[in-house]
Amino acid sequence: MVQYDGRDSAVREAGIPVKVFDDYETLSREVAGMVDRVVRENPGVAITLPTGETPRGMYNELVQRINAGDLDFSTVHFFCLDDYLGASIDDPTSLTAWLNEVFLTPANLHGDHVHFVPTTSPDPDAAAIAYEAEIQALGGFRLAVLGLGPNGHIGFNEPGSSPDARTRVVHLTDESRTQNAQYYEGTPTIPDQAMTIGLGTLLEAGEIVLLVSGASKAEILKASLEGPMTPDVPGSFLRLAGDRVTVMADREAASALS
Ligand code: PGA
Repeated sequence: MVQYDGRDSAVREAGIPVKVFDDYETLSREVAGMVDRVVRENPGVAITLPTGETPRGMYNELVQRINAGDLDFSTVHFFCLDDYLGASIDDPTSLTAWLNEVFLTPANLHGDHVHFVPTTSPDPDAAAIAYEAEIQALGGFRLAVLGLGPNGHIGFNEPGSSPDARTRVVHLTDESRTQNAQYYEGTPTIPDQAMTIGLGTLLEAGEIVLLVSGASKAEILKASLEGPMTPDVPGSFLRLAGDRVTVMADREAASALS
């Protein structure tokens, strides 16, 4: 068992530490604090952060710190994690547009240290390989904060993904498409292909945080941490990263853990 004796967290058996916070606000603040620490201590390195409903609070906190002059985010290379194939920042239903609205614009981050998933390239397979090479040229990720999909996906590494997978074009499951349609008004039709940073690339990060909130994630978090390690649940492969990974969850998301 891994022990964690943090101020406002509990210890959970998982083979990896699980920090459990009382509520979403505390969780968001703590994850933002972790990002803040890594950015401050490691200028020039590469990091990736997720999109989705879960990280909104973390981004709000980071924006506040950046705008208050407490945090200089221009010192790191920020890589977008995933997006739909063919979708650009100008497409209101792209994840990059979401990120732009929630984080990049409010924090005034528009320099060449922000790396966009090359989803509009005429040769997406080659562009994915080049995006991977950009990450590797910076020494891989110093930090990857990741969300957990209801089907266990990590980024858009859907069920069936290999833990060695590199950045690539993928087919989306109907479950992920339905989930992501809810991010936008009018629940638009989500493309069935996407580009994602590879699970293998993410698992090599110096520090990995799995950010999980809400009762709807309780069972898939349990499957990821306590079930068999299997491509059916890509989140289960996080255990391969050993002590470089920490789960940060609110009480509801952690409620099914034994
Ligand atoms: P969510 O998405 O934060 O909207 O639940 C998580 C994910 O799919 O990675």
